[in-house]
Amino acid sequence: MIETKNIDRFFPVAGREPFQALKDISIVIPDRSLTMLRGKSGSGKTTLLNILGALDAPSGGQVIFDGQDITKLSDKQREKLRREKIGFIFQSVSLIPMMTVYENVEFSLRLSDYKGDRKKRVEECLHLVGLGKRMQHMPQELSGGEQQRVAIARAIAHRPQVIFADEPTAELDTATSLSVMKMFQDLVQAQGITIVMTTHDTGLMDAGDIVYQLEDGALIDVEKRKAFAENEGKEE
Ligand SMILES: Nc1ncnc2c1ncn2[C@@H]1O[C@H](COP(=O)(O)OP(=O)(O)O)[C@@H](O)[C@H]1O
Ligand SMILES: [Mg+2]
Repeated sequence: MIETKNIDRFFPVAGREPFQALKDISIVIPDRSLTMLRGKSGSGKTTLLNILGALDAPSGGQVIFDGQDITKLSDKQREKLRREKIGFIFQSVSLIPMMTVYENVEFSLRLSDYKGDRKKRVEECLHLVGLGKRMQHMPQELSGGEQQRVAIARAIAHRPQVIFADEPTAELDTATSLSVMKMFQDLVQAQGITIVMTTHDTGLMDAGDIVYQLEDGALIDVEKRKAFAENEGKEE
């Protein structure tokens, strides 16, 4: 479980008051959930996701990851946490163009210091995202949706506990976006991974177990599926 307690994030602005991008955000991300951060452009989604993923630290407040306040970690400890427990997926697919699909996933597994059989794991992950037959292709030979599936395989390969995805469907058409959401739901259900994603697309909200809505850096609404609303007296 990941929990934030009263997170603020101020960015310095030359010659003026600092800009407050996050205002007193307290949220809970249960294990095995697909949690969405929703809001318009500039509402603070990426800032919050980067803090949750230990890429950035808040100006105030706490981030509790598995019982530990990660805002207190050194850069080195934070790096280790990311490498071992976290996977990232970004809006623009960032595959390495001169490597095959297989090599892209294998390369990232190498960087993460994976101890098991890398070849087996790469093949397993590419099969899981339905690209078992495309392993020797170059990224540019695949569609946008297929490339994003490679990015998903790459993000899950080292068996992270949590995946953070920043607008992973922003550059995909509606049908492809929905198939990526379906894949995320399957990963949560079958692999027990927790996925946190941002989106400004209101058409995808139904896929989420929990949807936190941000506006101007503040949390303005929460929607939870029944299974995640138990014992909290709040459900939609
Ligand atoms: N490094 C930064 N320095 C200054 N302002 C920033 C920085 N990062 C984000 N912001 C500002 O914080 C606000 C929220 O940004 P962001 O989290 O990227 O929003 P979103 O992802 O919802 O579009 C925006 O107004 C943005 O300009
Ligand atoms: Mg953003």
